[in-house]
Amino acid sequence: MPAENRTLKETVIAITGASSGIGRETARQLVAAGAKVALGARRLDRLEELVLELGTENAIAVQMDVTSPADNKELVAKALSAFGRLDSIVANAGIGHYGGISDNSDEDLMNMINVNFAGTVWTVRAALPEFRKSHGGDIVIISSVAGLRGGADEAVYAGTKFAQIGLAGSIDRELSPEGIRVTAICPAGTKTEFAIGTGRTEGDAALDDYMNPSDVAFQIVTALQQPRRLRTGLWTTWSMAQTS
Ligand SMILES: NC(=O)c1ccc[n+]([C@@H]2O[C@H](COP(=O)([O-])OP(=O)(O)OC[C@H]3O[C@@H](n4cnc5c(N)ncnc54)[C@H](OP(=O)(O)O)[C@@H]3O)[C@@H](O)[C@H]2O)c1
Repeated sequence: MPAENRTLKETVIAITGASSGIGRETARQLVAAGAKVALGARRLDRLEELVLELGTENAIAVQMDVTSPADNKELVAKALSAFGRLDSIVANAGIGHYGGISDNSDEDLMNMINVNFAGTVWTVRAALPEFRKSHGGDIVIISSVAGLRGGADEAVYAGTKFAQIGLAGSIDRELSPEGIRVTAICPAGTKTEFAIGTGRTEGDAALDDYMNPSDVAFQIVTALQQPRRLRTGLWTTWSMAQTS
């Protein structure tokens, strides 16, 4: 018998980095699939705009910084108090300062490590007590193809994305016996605000071949819809036009 998609109706999903790009599109597609969403990011005005679009019965905005363990706990606490449960967390917040190993300023370098890697760890740790209580839950980590192969002009960025893959593989082994599922999604270049001004230029012809954030969001939603008896592991995605 073929497996059937798992319904996301009435499930509750928290998303970090929901104020733009992939996170915002994921929120839209999840609500369209019947889920409730808790939206986390620093820019509250953007989150509130999205809540108005999605409906206050379907979404809440939580101003938070992923580098703060307390803010991540607050995102989870607010999801629970608004919707009564938490089924999944999407650790999506990220920044990209491209450059070779000597090019990034000390501050930009530490910010990338703190947001992309430490932030993911704090987000996962914040959701875990709830998932353990319910003996279930989905953790989706948004890494990158840069986290699988590296890149000459993105040494530290790629390092943080490799670190997310190492984290995902390890917690998959640690948590799957408890019924908690871990997926790492590795998109190739996607047309978002990401890295514009710090490695990418608005209007650059190379962006024409990139995916849209809705393409990556579709993959995140599809991963969450997999039957719960399946572990979902590592996903990659490119547009047909992208070669590397
Ligand atoms: N675009 C690409 O080509 C591409 C390719 C592969 C992987 N990715 C990954 O996809 C993820 C999403 O990026 P995107 O392309 O959608 O870029 P984006 O449009 O720039 O979105 C990044 C999101 O992260 C949030 N964020 C950044 N720092 C944060 C912090 N300290 N605390 C909380 N939220 C923070 C931003 O919100 P605020 O600024 O409001 O806090 C924003 O909502 C990232 O992890 C990125 O590494 C992107």
